[in-house]
Amino acid sequence: SASLPFFSQEEVTKHRSLEHGVWVTYKGGVYDITEFVAMHPGGEKILLAAGGALEPFWSLYAVHSQEHVLEILSEYKIGNL
Ligand code: HEM
Repeated sequence: SASLPFFSQEEVTKHRSLEHGVWVTYKGGVYDITEFVAMHPGGEKILLAAGGALEPFWSLYAVHSQEHVLEILSEYKIGNL
């Protein structure tokens, strides 16, 4: 992913709605998950993380500590923080 662009936290924070796009960060990566929101098994709870970090939420919902969840996330990577 060395060829992907870098984004500031400020730019990520602008993307916290379905209208403007839903971006999240995870371990230094930036992900545009707009298209995934409607497919999320946990429903609209996913929007709580919109514009910010997944870590605080994923530590609460351990269901995400699985390889297949990280594989889904990786499909949506658009850059790095
Ligand atoms: C379940 C992905 C963000 C809450 C799941 C599952 C996947 C997933 C694949 C099903 C896991 C399984 O059963 O094997 C994602 C991705 C996220 C994300 C890719 C971010 C890009 C969040 C956030 C929250 C959340 C931010 C809470 C604020 C939940 C809950 C479930 C769940 C509560 C359990 C649903 C159920 O089984 O009834 N998520 N999730 N997720 N997620 Fe997420």
